[in-house]
Amino acid sequence: MKNLHIINHPLVKRDLTKLRDKKTPSNQFRSILRRIAALMAYEVTRDMPLAEIEVATPLEKTAGHIVESSVVLVPILRAGLGLVGGFVEVLPDARVGHIGLFRDEETLKPVDYYLKLPKNLDKALVLILDPMLATGGSAAAAVTFLKNKGAKKIKFVSLVAAPEGVKKLSKAHPDVFIYACSLDRQLNDKGYILPGLGDAGDRIFGTGE
Ligand code: PRP
Ligand code: URA
Repeated sequence: MKNLHIINHPLVKRDLTKLRDKKTPSNQFRSILRRIAALMAYEVTRDMPLAEIEVATPLEKTAGHIVESSVVLVPILRAGLGLVGGFVEVLPDARVGHIGLFRDEETLKPVDYYLKLPKNLDKALVLILDPMLATGGSAAAAVTFLKNKGAKKIKFVSLVAAPEGVKKLSKAHPDVFIYACSLDRQLNDKGYILPGLGDAGDRIFGTGE
């Protein structure tokens, strides 16, 4: 799986364990997700191009840097929203688009219901955010939408990925680099990731209770 990068930082592992724990309530789940997203943003932006600028300290002028490329975050609704806060903390100038997709519970195929994206996607680094990469249907559909709207450089950022989803997304879009904090074992017969963390949207928004 050459276009998959697993984020192995100890603090990421610590937070992912708390997110997996079924005893973690929604209020804690949200704040841990926000923090782990900021840690992920650090890793995902590691290869960002910089431009040199001059900066004047109180003592003298020296060389400094600015980030050259514009960044567009695109959470897949709903669960992707849980990652936006942490990414925006690290990337305060990022613009944010939204893609609404849900999985049909019977067919597991993605159904789209919302699309609102910023302009000039072709010049931006586009980061698709979704905690779960399960069958890969939602991810592959989101990338197709974004490419049709002009996006050229896309990364897919997830918390937990299943081998099935990585395979499907890589096959459909070999140019899209995938980040995850864990490559889990497999999907169950309902398309849930094992061991996973359950239904991410329900855990963030408390809709499973
Ligand atoms: C979840 C998750 C992904 C999708 C992954 O969303 O957030 O978008 O499932 O599954 P896939 O890889 O098999 O497509 P869900 O459909 O549960 O919608 P929600 O975020 O509104 O709860
Ligand atoms: N969507 C989720 O929220 N969790 C899974 O395990 C699979 C898809």
